[in-house]
Amino acid sequence: MSFASIIEELMGFKYVIPVHQGRAAEHIISKVLVKQGSIVPMNYHFTTTKAHIELAGGEIVEIPVKEALDRRSMYPFKGNIDIEKLEDILRRSSGRVAFVRIEAVANLLGGQPVSMRNIREVRELCDKYNVPLILDASMIDWNVYYIKEREPGYGSKSLASILKEFVSHADLLYMSARKAPSVRGGLIATSNRELYERLIVHIPVYEGFLTYGGMSIKEVAAMAVGLREMIDESLIGSELELINYTVRELDKRGIPVILPPGGLGVHIDAVEFLPHVKRSEYPAGSLAAAIYIASGIRSMERGALSMDRGKDGREIYPDLELVRIAFPRRTYLKSHSDYLIDRVTWLYENREVIKGLQWVHEPPILRFFLGRLRDIDNWGEKLADIYKRKSSENTRY
Ligand SMILES: Cc1ncc(COP(=O)(O)O)c(C=O)c1O
Repeated sequence: MSFASIIEELMGFKYVIPVHQGRAAEHIISKVLVKQGSIVPMNYHFTTTKAHIELAGGEIVEIPVKEALDRRSMYPFKGNIDIEKLEDILRRSSGRVAFVRIEAVANLLGGQPVSMRNIREVRELCDKYNVPLILDASMIDWNVYYIKEREPGYGSKSLASILKEFVSHADLLYMSARKAPSVRGGLIATSNRELYERLIVHIPVYEGFLTYGGMSIKEVAAMAVGLREMIDESLIGSELELINYTVRELDKRGIPVILPPGGLGVHIDAVEFLPHVKRSEYPAGSLAAAIYIASGIRSMERGALSMDRGKDGREIYPDLELVRIAFPRRTYLKSHSDYLIDRVTWLYENREVIKGLQWVHEPPILRFFLGRLRDIDNWGEKLADIYKRKSSENTRY
């Protein structure tokens, strides 16, 4: 069975373009659809998406529902777009809107899902104002699972049918294959022939040929297996159970985690964890470093460091300053979660030792990838000393 026919069977799209990873898809899509002065309304940005839209001369406009920014709100679909705000933007400036973008689940909001009802309503507005709807489906498997779990009317439907219905609302879908299909790679899919023709012009220039898009054939074959697994009822959800358990246990211990648990991982609100660290000294970056010192667990800063400065050189502080501890599929056991809970709780009790970070080398674009920072007043060493002292006294680890 060809790769294209697997995409058609799973998602109903007629045309597929393999690309070497998610950001390659963002590059090509932005090149074709974004112009100087364009705007792209979305539930929330992802780092590489924002970079590619801005490099193409556009601007992102984030319009999540208000519940998304309240870490304690138990609203089940905090990845939803605020429909009123979207209509307002489309009414006032639909001519400038390159496309509307939905990310399902929304990574930087804490892996929060989008409801079927929300994407349907966004679709209706896109039709009314004649604007394309683009879906970032990098984590669509978790979104589909949460629709089945949380949205009335979907509990008895199969993951396969929910997936097909959800993506049917998009004119075009792209994905990084690292998360949902668990492999390296990416793809773009659409049923719009004209859009497909405009996109493929760029593939031989930036990716390779249309049959492999910069990947080896082995990787394309592995992606096909991973895509099928997205609708495997016996598989999807196991890592979510573990995320759920870890979030509940951390919450019980007073650790400020994003609620309700989402996809992708456990997300900690670093501003609340480290109220004494100024935002200009990067609480989430500091906390990610401290977690590594206290546990060896590599988490990810998803706050101000992950944003770049504005054109005037000033910091842009995102709504949420998060540390993400990712739970890839088939990787962790409950004992890993228990270790994590123990270490993060220990860190919370010793949080006053953690201070901020300062740049040593700050690249101008996507600075979190290649930048280097240092710990103010050498706090990392002090934290390591306390850890060593206490662990030689009595801790289990
Ligand atoms: C939602 C989302 N979009 C796009 C990307 C970019 O994909 P890649 O890392 O494969 O370039 C990612 C990667 O983490 C992502 O989570």
